[in-house]
Amino acid sequence: MADLVLPDIEAYAAACSLPETPVRRALREETERTMEYARMMVGPLEGAFLHVMTRLVRAERVLEIGMFTGYSALCFAEALPEQGRVVTCEVDEESAAVARRFFAQSPHGRQIEIRMGPALETLAELTGPFDLIFIDMGLSPKRKCSV
Ligand SMILES: C[S@@+](CC[C@H](N)C(=O)[O-])C[C@H]1O[C@@H](n2cnc3c(N)ncnc32)[C@H](O)[C@@H]1O
Repeated sequence: MADLVLPDIEAYAAACSLPETPVRRALREETERTMEYARMMVGPLEGAFLHVMTRLVRAERVLEIGMFTGYSALCFAEALPEQGRVVTCEVDEESAAVARRFFAQSPHGRQIEIRMGPALETLAELTGPFDLIFIDMGLSPKRKCSV
C-alpha cells in the first residue's frame, strides 16, 4: 500500500508522540505476524493520537465499535483514570481471543469490556453517555459485511 504521509513528517510526528507501551508493542507485533488483516489495526502513531485525545477530553467512558485484536482499545484504556472504562464491540471471535490474551497482560485490561456480537445489537443494549466514541468498523474478515 502506498504511503499516505511523507516519511519525514511521519518521523517528526513519531518523535513528538508518546512512545508505544511494551504490551501495545507486543500486541501489534503478534497481530502483524499472525493476523491476515493486520492492516486494519491503527498504527502506533494513530494510537498515540487516540491516547492523547482521550486525555485531552478527560474521558472516563469510551465506546469503540470495531475492536479487532484490541490495539486501539488498549490505547484508550491506558489514557483513562482508575475508574474509567472502555466498552468495545467485536464480532470476530479469533480477533477477540488475541485481544483477551494481551488485555490480561496489561494493568489496564480490567478497564476494557468486550461486547461480542453485531454492534447494532450491542448498541441497543448500552446505556450512555459516553465521552468519546471511536467508530472503526471495517469489514469483518469472516462475515464479509459490517452490519
Ligand atoms: C478496522 S477493524 C478495527 C481495528 C481496531 N480498532 C484496531 O485499531 O486494532 C474493524 C473490526 O470491526 C469488526 N466488525 C465488523 N463488523 C462488525 C459489526 N457489525 N459489529 C461489531 N464488529 C464488527 C471486524 O471484525 C473488525 O475486527
